[in-house]
Amino acid sequence: MNIVYVKNNEQMSLMAADIIASSILHKPDAILGLATGSTPIETYALLVAKYKVGALDFSQVRTFNLDEYAGLAPDHEQSYRYFMNHHLFNHTNIAMENTHLPLGNTSDHEKQCAEYEKKIEAVGGIDLQLLGIGSNGHVGFNEPADVFYMKTNVQNLSAATLSDNKRFFKGENEVVPSSALTTGFGQIMAAKSVLLLAGNGKQEIVQKAFYGDVTPQIPASCLQFHHNCTVIAVR
Ligand code: F6R
Repeated sequence: MNIVYVKNNEQMSLMAADIIASSILHKPDAILGLATGSTPIETYALLVAKYKVGALDFSQVRTFNLDEYAGLAPDHEQSYRYFMNHHLFNHTNIAMENTHLPLGNTSDHEKQCAEYEKKIEAVGGIDLQLLGIGSNGHVGFNEPADVFYMKTNVQNLSAATLSDNKRFFKGENEVVPSSALTTGFGQIMAAKSVLLLAGNGKQEIVQKAFYGDVTPQIPASCLQFHHNCTVIAVR
């Protein structure tokens, strides 16, 4: 894996947007695996800016997001579907039917996971997988565990993740959902390339995940075995 160090979040986002844009220019019908969270917001803004000046065309791009909160409907303001529409999809010419996230508000989460897994398989997997990293080393919502979960699965969110994500839930009655549907390591490791962004504040977990042992207790460490993974990390 390649680890590229940059000075700040701005440089990280610029580099990430250039890498994603070049992958779309190279393959206009690229299949992108996308992430939410605060880390990629600026990258998405830069991609929108490239689209607005005519430098990028999303008309054939297909996207599969990593995860969605269990129990949240797509129009819930804290759902990841809402996030993606708000930060990227609504501002480009991507066809909404080409954008995919697991559905959080179905009655059968396991079935939804199996269907989502099949959808990704049906298109032949992900070309470029964008990832963030949790302070506990999670990717997607694959939390520290005794095994690496391979398939799309339902995860109970750890105390660390619930506490990290509290900041997004501001309404009086809003509680952070305690579980989420997430793509597993099978699809992530099968992606043709992976781009993981680790902004300011993630220095400690970057050290543990990419310079230490590969262990499911630090899920991102699995990426040490990916054949084409780039980490852009703020020094
Ligand atoms: C979200 C996701 C998560 C985040 C991680 C970091 O789709 O996959 O793994 O990437 O929790 O979140 P931020 O960027 O908010 O620090």
